[in-house]
Amino acid sequence: MSTENIPVLETRGITKRFPGVVANEDVNLTLHKGEILALLGENGAGKSTLMNIIYGLYQPTEGEILVNGTPVQMNNPSDAIALGIGMVHQHFQLVPVMTVAENIMLGSESVKNGLLDTRAVAARISELSQRYNLDIDPYAIIEDLPVGARQRVEIVKTLYRNADILILDEPTAVLTPQEIEGLFEVMTLLKNQGKSIIFITHKLKEVLQVADRITVLRQGKTVGEADPETATQNSLAALMVGREVILTVEKKPANPQGVVLAVEDLAARNDLGDPALRGVSFDVRAGEIVGVAGVQGNGQTELVEVVTGLRHADAGEVHINGQRMTNATPRAITQAAASCHVPEDRHAYGMVSPYPVAENLVLNTYNLVPYSHGINVDTRAIRSHATELVKQYDVRTPSIDTPGGSLSGGNQQKMVVAREFSRDLNLLIAAQPTRGIDVGSIEFIHNQIVAKRDNGVAVLLISSELDEIMALSDRIAVMYKGEIIGIVPRAEATREGLGLLMAGVKDERVPV
Ligand SMILES: Nc1ncnc2c1ncn2[C@@H]1O[C@H](COP(=O)(O)OP(=O)(O)OP(=O)(O)O)[C@@H](O)[C@H]1O
Ligand SMILES: [Mg+2]
Repeated sequence: MSTENIPVLETRGITKRFPGVVANEDVNLTLHKGEILALLGENGAGKSTLMNIIYGLYQPTEGEILVNGTPVQMNNPSDAIALGIGMVHQHFQLVPVMTVAENIMLGSESVKNGLLDTRAVAARISELSQRYNLDIDPYAIIEDLPVGARQRVEIVKTLYRNADILILDEPTAVLTPQEIEGLFEVMTLLKNQGKSIIFITHKLKEVLQVADRITVLRQGKTVGEADPETATQNSLAALMVGREVILTVEKKPANPQGVVLAVEDLAARNDLGDPALRGVSFDVRAGEIVGVAGVQGNGQTELVEVVTGLRHADAGEVHINGQRMTNATPRAITQAAASCHVPEDRHAYGMVSPYPVAENLVLNTYNLVPYSHGINVDTRAIRSHATELVKQYDVRTPSIDTPGGSLSGGNQQKMVVAREFSRDLNLLIAAQPTRGIDVGSIEFIHNQIVAKRDNGVAVLLISSELDEIMALSDRIAVMYKGEIIGIVPRAEATREGLGLLMAGVKDERVPV
């Protein structure tokens, strides 16, 4: 056999067992030189586990890995790196206060006369940056860089260590549409220069756009391959989930009632102390979904934080159910207003990783009836609540006693959504509620959001996915540079019109 046909990477019969879970079962996967292989599968299907095995972070229970046709043994990531394998994790592993070059030097040796030779490192970074069109300044400080640039630093880091095989685990989940296009250009350039890429995503459109081949995992097993030339979003969804998935949301016209959330002339600063909200006013009525669209970084995050009590407002007012809630504590807002919040960053605000699933499901209600009576905690009530929610929201976990942090990324998100949606509420604030969630579960969560609306809940939805905003919202507010540049009824909204508003172009014909 000529070397042309030998895969650069192959897994044969990989099985990985965790206590109570078979995460991978007899997985066979091949990756060829110069191709982008998309790895698809439901939340908990075993994608990240398989990648962690290929990167030497986990040892397989059974099976073997071949690199360029030779069986290899990897005991840790250094072994994988030495074999030309690089991985970009979803949670970046960069030190915020250090420069790009310093971060890249960490753990790789560029020592001259006992000192780290920053200049040589920087020169090599610039060269790689140019070659793969990565637009990276080696002397930039990480914390000053937007998410898309930090991700490119992670990519440069793997290239600096001579990776030929790149694993990208859900790289687009945290990017803006513009950044995603940029990443795809980089991926195409890498592949054209002979690199091989494994790309994980839940967005089927992206798979069809960039993949050369598609492998699908279901419940730890490889269930098939698909050809991006002939596959459709529907066929991929069916292959992943094992049933037809309805990719559009069905809903009746809204029947808005009284104002539940009123925001008036709100001003606040971001973490750097710069103005992030500059006089934001809008309201959300019972029985309607108001979507907030905008390019990430135009004040959406700060808006949600101020409204939920996580950030201080410098000026302006927030009223919920007619009650003044400006700068109230998160707890007061959650409880007095029966509001709930699906946070954008589940690790920072949404869950406590070492706590069992059952406790994560009552994080902000454990002290209330029916889970507590006076000082007595009712463990049985907590457990039956957890059992019910895990079933209803299809949170895939070996048990309700499993630590929340050992669930797959998407199942952690489903756990947070289940907790927040299951409360008796009249205001739902959902920021990126389906980030990292598979198509089958998105269908369920979208239907739940519409059902809440139909039950008279006021819904404020913040999403960087324009598709999600368009699918769910009754009115769409677009944020630009800390202001709401327009509020458009859904029926009058077009993708192009919203795109213009998101770019700061105000159309006179669009009602504001
Ligand atoms: N460190 C761990 N300890 C115990 N169980 C684990 C661990 N890591 C993963 N699992 C389990 O293995 C299974 C597969 O998880 P994995 O993270 O590989 O899924 P995934 O396909 O990446 O899902 P997602 O799309 O949600 O990221 C899940 O049931 C998960 O709970
Ligand atoms: Mg994963």
